[in-house]
Amino acid sequence: MPQRLVLYGLCCTNPSTVVLVKNAPTSRHLVLPMPHNPVLFDVLQDRLRQAPQGRITFADFMDLALYDPAGGYYTTQVAAVGPQGDFVTSPHLSRDFGELLAVQLSELWHHLGQPEPFTLVEMGAGQGIMAADVLAYLQSQFQDCFAVLDYRIVEKSPVLRHIQRKRLEAWADRVTWCDWTDLAADSVTGCFFSNELVDALPVHQVILTETGLQEIYVTLDEESGTPKEVIGPLSTPRLGEYFDLVGVDWARGYPVGYRTEAHLAALDWIATVARVLNRGYLLTIDYGYPADRYYNPQRAQGTLQGYYQHAHHNDPYRHLGHQDITAHVNFTALERQGAPCGLSTLDLTQQAIFLMALGLGDRLADLAKIQSTDPAIVNQAIQRRDQIHQLMNPMGLGNFWVLLQGKNLAPEIVAQPIRGFTIPPLG
Ligand SMILES: C[S@@+](CC[C@H](N)C(=O)[O-])C[C@H]1O[C@@H](n2cnc3c(N)ncnc32)[C@H](O)[C@@H]1O
Repeated sequence: MPQRLVLYGLCCTNPSTVVLVKNAPTSRHLVLPMPHNPVLFDVLQDRLRQAPQGRITFADFMDLALYDPAGGYYTTQVAAVGPQGDFVTSPHLSRDFGELLAVQLSELWHHLGQPEPFTLVEMGAGQGIMAADVLAYLQSQFQDCFAVLDYRIVEKSPVLRHIQRKRLEAWADRVTWCDWTDLAADSVTGCFFSNELVDALPVHQVILTETGLQEIYVTLDEESGTPKEVIGPLSTPRLGEYFDLVGVDWARGYPVGYRTEAHLAALDWIATVARVLNRGYLLTIDYGYPADRYYNPQRAQGTLQGYYQHAHHNDPYRHLGHQDITAHVNFTALERQGAPCGLSTLDLTQQAIFLMALGLGDRLADLAKIQSTDPAIVNQAIQRRDQIHQLMNPMGLGNFWVLLQGKNLAPEIVAQPIRGFTIPPLG
């Protein structure tokens, strides 16, 4: 398993806080080693001992490390996201993110002909910050949309669900939590949306060998009792189909030893959303690449990263249960899987452009108009300006992708411009 130096891409929300956003440029940062979570480690050892040939796929390992009910990262690390945790996401930086998303969602409601109810399904809501910002802004600025709103959250972690319930108490009559299995086919008219959900879905890892494409499995090292990797045949023919879907031809320039990820869970997720969505949109915000960049022969070690205490590295077996494990999103896979499921791509842009088109630039300009000699107010304004800049930083969050897919939309609806995907005024 290759190991690189511990690195991080930093940003400052105030002088005493240094936080990491994913996909940012990196610099050195010393992180104290953390022993594995013993509960998770026991679960993993049991699972490996019982598994056929004593091994599980990397996707099963990632699922266990992140979501095991007893010891998984998202089950036990309640403050995983945020300045006190391991990385920050856009909603944690500034309420501008959720508020501008609300502007977009209310416009989509109009495009759909103002359906009642208008269902919003937020997937992977973390600590509920984005939900709170969206709900508060719709309530104060778009009352007609808010009046018909049915806000649902699909959240895999029971602990995070609990935190979300507490944060969203003010909207207890408006928000419901559900499992994927609670959502009936064709039951939603509205919009499914997520921020940094898809990078948290488990991925399979494959490696090109002299004998062709093989898969990376996780097993137990007999001597040390710690997890180690072994290589074996593909666990499912779906892996071959996945690379066909995204147009990877292994005979064309890939070196032996090339390893990368396949996003089968993301394909399943898109299919589920498409099944439940009767009419409306799927809005996905995350970091990643289109397939030609993702599977560039030079990206020979894939995109897998571990995040721990605002530092990142490429060893998923470190700090077990205490670190996030992610892979970049393959946006081509989302688009190509969506199409046969009835979800056609409407637009793709970058977060900086999306937020600017929705009014982030105006908010920045308003900040510049503040005239005060009160140091507290001036400091607040400086901090907010810094947060806004981070949301659109082309070397960080601004470089995230925003993908909009639509289902069962009449041609006149598809033809309408969607504000977040227009070119924003720069002046
Ligand atoms: C990286 S966090 C992002 C949280 C939040 N959206 C934000 O921007 O701060 C990923 C979230 O997705 C949730 N999650 C992961 N897999 C999920 C699944 N299959 N269904 C629902 N939620 C899931 C995690 O528990 C966590 O809340």
